[in-house]
Amino acid sequence: MAQFTKLKSFEALQAHFEQTKTLHMRDLFAQDATRFEKFSTKACDIELDYSKNRITEETMAKLFDLARETQVEEKRDGLFAGAKINTSEDRAVLHTALRNKSGEPVIVDGQDVMPEVEAALAKIKTFVNDVHNGVRKGYTGKQFTDVLAIGIGGSFLGPKVMTEALKPYRHEGINVHFVANVDGTHIHDVLAKLPAESTLVVMSSKSFGTQETLKNTETAREWFLASGAEFGDIAKHFVCVSSNIAKATEFGIAEDNIFPMWDWVGGRYSLWSAIGLPIALSLGFENFSELLEGAYEMDVHFKTTPLEENLPVILGVLGVWYINFYGAQSHVLLPYDHYLRAFPAYVQQLDMESNGKSATPGGEYLDYATGPVIWGGEGTNGQHAFHQLIHQGKVLIPADFMLPLQSQHEVSNHHAMLASNCFGQTQALMQGKTEAEVIAELKAKGYSEDDAAKEAPQRVFEGNKPSNTLLFSKITPRTLGNIIALYEHKVFVQGIIWGINSFDQWGVELGKVLGNDVLAKLEDSNIALDGDSSTNALIERFRQR
Ligand code: F6P
Repeated sequence: MAQFTKLKSFEALQAHFEQTKTLHMRDLFAQDATRFEKFSTKACDIELDYSKNRITEETMAKLFDLARETQVEEKRDGLFAGAKINTSEDRAVLHTALRNKSGEPVIVDGQDVMPEVEAALAKIKTFVNDVHNGVRKGYTGKQFTDVLAIGIGGSFLGPKVMTEALKPYRHEGINVHFVANVDGTHIHDVLAKLPAESTLVVMSSKSFGTQETLKNTETAREWFLASGAEFGDIAKHFVCVSSNIAKATEFGIAEDNIFPMWDWVGGRYSLWSAIGLPIALSLGFENFSELLEGAYEMDVHFKTTPLEENLPVILGVLGVWYINFYGAQSHVLLPYDHYLRAFPAYVQQLDMESNGKSATPGGEYLDYATGPVIWGGEGTNGQHAFHQLIHQGKVLIPADFMLPLQSQHEVSNHHAMLASNCFGQTQALMQGKTEAEVIAELKAKGYSEDDAAKEAPQRVFEGNKPSNTLLFSKITPRTLGNIIALYEHKVFVQGIIWGINSFDQWGVELGKVLGNDVLAKLEDSNIALDGDSSTNALIERFRQR
């Protein structure tokens, strides 16, 4: 497949962009009272309003042509069927099998993986129920009160963000704490407040080779033994999730305490596997199942809905429109829901680790932009901080606003105020405020014609800033499953259009290798400093501390 900028549909979009780039959304709305009906759609528990984008019906038709010409539909079918689309690692990509509720087999290398998936879920269920019911206890016979979840990247962000987002659904009596960073301050502070006798440690590492996770687990093990426990008690308190059974047993985790995962599940797509064990421990197995059901619902939508009504496809092609035609370099996520405040951090890994690529699997370097910088934060906080740049800065930043129609806690009229801010922001970004409007306002306040004209530019809002609004009835485990799978598939669609492999992450490797080399030099001052002058000097400073 040729790089997408060489395709007919891309050329047609390029010509269309030149014709439409000066259109203002304010005029498009004024000209067409049915714009919302035309550019909004609903799937699962998500209603998507994408009318506040710099698009016409022709734009969307051409973007769908691009999706078709880049074979999004065929490749999507390959994804669900277990094709080895992660070519650089020769792996299938089957996070969808983890939430497959169709009853149909999913074949990898001639083998149906569903029995293994079901067996892992059954193991999670029994374990979680045993912990919650006190069948499984700590070494002194106390029921578990706390879970220390150790992992990083995909073995951390999903569980952390889901348990935070679903706080109202938590199982009483169990508190889950996360440690990811190798910064000793973090584990120090968390361990300081945990009772060793009633703390269960869940170590999650697909590879069982990640420096931070191994170190934090060792530190937790020392802390546990220092509390008076015997070596043999470790088996009662330490479990792990990994696809590397050999390394996990070598580390001392009893085989029975290892929850499996597979190399056909990418780290950032793994919360649906036993990597989600901390979620199930926090929310109960039923709620974890609901999360999987929600993701499955979105899978069915993605798999069966025509591109024109397909939520992940719509979000995906809109992103491509701004990145590759308007030159947008970032995309902001704005959840108007306090419990979803860490959602942007989750999508950051999902999107940036997947699509931060600059070559095709066929060995060609790309001469066009791929994945954007993903950032964001909860509304309304951002309005008093970084929204200024989105409204009046010189860079174009497409936004996704997210709002549940019902709050988890209806306090006074807080939720109406929250919603008014969310909708008001999308409106302000779209319509802006013209110079004529600003001058009229200033003159009404008593400014002279000259002063008003001089003052106006700083107060003008260009408008025409694109945003999507995603509404949900309420954040439930099922709805959250819908949302996460929606973003997973959006990233997939974009990766297909850009012709990249969204499922490897070679970009994280070099830093790991050099970090290990530096660690040896920090810990042994006899090792010669043979690097560049900056790194040598930094190591020297540390050695001298
Ligand atoms: O360093 C990046 C990464 O490899 C991510 O892709 C992954 O989610 C994370 O590290 C953790 O990896 P593991 O689960 O193997 O410890």
